[in-house]
Amino acid sequence: MSRASEKRGDVKAAGGVKPGPPFFITRKQELGLRIKASQGIVMNKVPTSLVIGQPTSFDDYVRQLMIPTRVLELARKASAIRFSAWEAEAIRASIAPGRGKEKGLLRKILELKARKDDSHPPYIRVACTGRGDYDEMAAAEYGYKLDGGGEDIHKGEFGSPVVLELWPAQHYSPMHSHGMTTGIIYCLSGQIDVMAYDSLKWEAKKVGLLTLTPGQCAWLDGERFAVHKVFCPMDGGDAPVGPDNLLNDSSNYAATFHVYLNQSELPLVRARPEPDTRDEFTFVDEKTHKIVPFPTYSDISWSILRKVMADYAGKIGM
Ligand SMILES: [Fe+2]
Repeated sequence: MSRASEKRGDVKAAGGVKPGPPFFITRKQELGLRIKASQGIVMNKVPTSLVIGQPTSFDDYVRQLMIPTRVLELARKASAIRFSAWEAEAIRASIAPGRGKEKGLLRKILELKARKDDSHPPYIRVACTGRGDYDEMAAAEYGYKLDGGGEDIHKGEFGSPVVLELWPAQHYSPMHSHGMTTGIIYCLSGQIDVMAYDSLKWEAKKVGLLTLTPGQCAWLDGERFAVHKVFCPMDGGDAPVGPDNLLNDSSNYAATFHVYLNQSELPLVRARPEPDTRDEFTFVDEKTHKIVPFPTYSDISWSILRKVMADYAGKIGM
């Protein structure tokens, strides 16, 4: 078995290597799915690209013809966003494995999340508006002030239209649906694999696989590419990461910037998360293979994370 497939969690079986998480595909199937994604997924007889980019050929242009204008506008607005060197370094330091006082805020949150949900290796949702579930913990530990407070089991808020997601190397999401929202997944740093599915069920057909690098943008709307699974293929350390080892041993990570617009923009404050909007997405549980609702609570707010990052940058003199 190759080192790469060992790292992916593939297991040796009688008839060869049985593909493991996150995508459960062979190298040959992976190549086929990457070719399919690069050629565009045929919808209404037109091959449609999963990635938004500046067309460089007639074929490229055709593949991007059916991308909705609303999505192109979101991508255009995001196109110049990058982390600065100190931001990237502060996140790396906070995600790195460590003991005692050396353990950063993001690694602590990852450990808490892995204890709460052991169905897949965790990733971090940073709410760019509103509060996150671990804001209070971070504020108490780092001496920041928070205003107000919730009484829910979730201390944060759901349904943020703009979310920063942090993917430790080799960690992945379950397969999930973004309902009827329209949005973009913009890669800020590192490298991220996106597998698109034709529906939300464990046995769903895989329609294409692509890798996003900084500056590249994938998209979705209610009818196209709404169901996907995201995986950070970077080096996560020596031990394979998966259901039996939920936390990597590496500070490598990818960061993605997500924007979700509801079909008709509703007020952000409501009593219950509404299905098929960005309040509540659905996912397939990696263990039970059942479809489960996911109220989109975030882990931490950008305002708190930025303070932690700025403190770190000050400490190392950046
Ligand atoms: Fe997603």
